Amino acid sequence: MSTLDIVGLCGSLRADSVNRMALNLAGSLMPDSMRMEVVEWREIPVFDADVMAKGLPPSVLALRDRIRRADGLVVATPEYNFSIPGAFKNAIDWLSRGEDQPFAHKPVAMLSASPGPLGGARVQYDLRRVMLFVNAMVLVKPEVFIGGSLAKFDAAGQCTDETTRKFVGDQMRAFDKWISAVKRMS
Ligand SMILES: Cc1cc2nc3c(=O)[nH]c(=O)nc-3n(C[C@H](O)[C@H](O)[C@H](O)COP(=O)(O)O)c2cc1C
Repeated sequence: MSTLDIVGLCGSLRADSVNRMALNLAGSLMPDSMRMEVVEWREIPVFDADVMAKGLPPSVLALRDRIRRADGLVVATPEYNFSIPGAFKNAIDWLSRGEDQPFAHKPVAMLSASPGPLGGARVQYDLRRVMLFVNAMVLVKPEVFIGGSLAKFDAAGQCTDETTRKFVGDQMRAFDKWISAVKRMS
């Protein structure tokens, strides 16, 4: 069986992002059948429909192509003001345009981490709503909200919390099965 190609997107641009740590954790706990590449999106400009009318910027085209080629997408994002970080939503908005937008029928798993107690629960429901509009196939359960994140990762970005490791590992195993189920449906 061929290895599933998974794209990882982090909703935070911060170098020491705890969501990037969570994303890396997901990558490390994936079954052997999956391999994740974390892909950057910081070059994507501010969305402007007048710019889009002249053609999609190269950074958008490249990311659209990378996501389209992937078997699945793992998103780890912080919550900003109870919702999706503006810069990340901007990137999603660019990617979402056109009949050939890359989220259509794409299996997606999401997780979030926050120093607060809810672990970004609210951002995930906003992101699920956006993913619904773009016809993505979002894994329902298990949901992963990493609250109190500052105590769960060490200075090297390694997760020191066994419960978090179990939840993230369970989610990645469920995502493996979800990708197979989506492939059978299509
Ligand atoms: C503009 C802004 C808004 C924030 N709003 C929330 C929020 O609504 N809920 C929450 O749990 N944390 C909130 N935070 C705190 C972030 O969860 C925290 O900074 C987190 O570490 C950011 O993720 P990162 O480490 O992956 O960059 C906010 C942070 C910023 C900068």
